[in-house]
Amino acid sequence: MRYVPAEQLTEGMVLGKPVYNDNGNVLLREGVVLTMGYISKIVEMDVSGLYIDDVFSKKIEVKDVISEELRSNSVKAARHLLLETGNGKNYQKSMEEVDKCIEKIMDEILSTDSAVINMINVKSHDLYTYQHSVNVCVLSCIIGLACEMSRAQLKKLATSALLHDIGKVFIDKAILNKPGKLSQDEWETIKTHPELGSECAGKKYRFPTAICRSILMHHERYDGTGYPSGTGGEDIPIFARIIAISDVYDAITSRRPYHEAVSPAEAYEYIMGNSGRHFSPHIVDIFTRKVAPFPEGLSVKLSNGMKGIVFKNYEDCLTRPVIKLYPEPGHPEDRFLDLKNDPCALDITVLELLS
Ligand SMILES: [Fe+2]
Repeated sequence: MRYVPAEQLTEGMVLGKPVYNDNGNVLLREGVVLTMGYISKIVEMDVSGLYIDDVFSKKIEVKDVISEELRSNSVKAARHLLLETGNGKNYQKSMEEVDKCIEKIMDEILSTDSAVINMINVKSHDLYTYQHSVNVCVLSCIIGLACEMSRAQLKKLATSALLHDIGKVFIDKAILNKPGKLSQDEWETIKTHPELGSECAGKKYRFPTAICRSILMHHERYDGTGYPSGTGGEDIPIFARIIAISDVYDAITSRRPYHEAVSPAEAYEYIMGNSGRHFSPHIVDIFTRKVAPFPEGLSVKLSNGMKGIVFKNYEDCLTRPVIKLYPEPGHPEDRFLDLKNDPCALDITVLELLS
């Protein structure tokens, strides 16, 4: 399986992972052969790319940290809860569903030996908010687990992470999705969402203080330059320090009306570059061991000019994957370059992810 950007999808390609519609149900199953009609629909949904199956990438199994079914159920549950909360409807059943999904997300993450984010989570325009919430929850759980949190702590972290942006349901969608630059007033309105969210978590959902404070402080920055209060360093609760990194990583690797997606490697650099500035150095250190900058199945260019796809990542050395090289004239056989173990490859680096 390999990742193909939306602009490079062609008729006849075979889908490797399902595509979901606006309600969170399966639109196209894996194994479906792409037609021009399907590709137009995918482009219309503003999907950045898809995983496809082909002969060259058939031995690459791109694995998510949680099952496809749980991810799709969690996106649907988050969608129901956010919509009902925003519309002032009864959200009790959706809250129970969200709670069940959070328990299952923790079960699945706790049952894997070493959970590492090793793929691009494909999002569509209409499901972005809910897919982003689930991604922030999963990544935060992985980091929390690496911090040796108890299950009870993980549950609070996961709940805060899944609902970190709940305050946005009370903000005008025209401002939230505005493609251009925000006016000062609009920006000030957006900046109220942590307080609105924290209030909702406490007064409506009756969540404990730890969750309300994490939602309130997920935009605080380690150097004190965040909002709403400018709290810095270890005064920011650990849940909020974790969610801050998960939130930014997932947001900047997503295509949005106001920005293009950056590659996982660029986002990885951004997070590392902001260690001790925006983000807690301790959490950044864990993040770099839990997120692959070069996810399996992505096309890359190497510093020696060669090109290929990321075949396998080593969980203890995520910057030095095994690359399956693209065939060249005279070399029809499969060729691999192991950047971690091959002595001839020690001076070769991955230059960039190709789109
Ligand atoms: Fe936020």
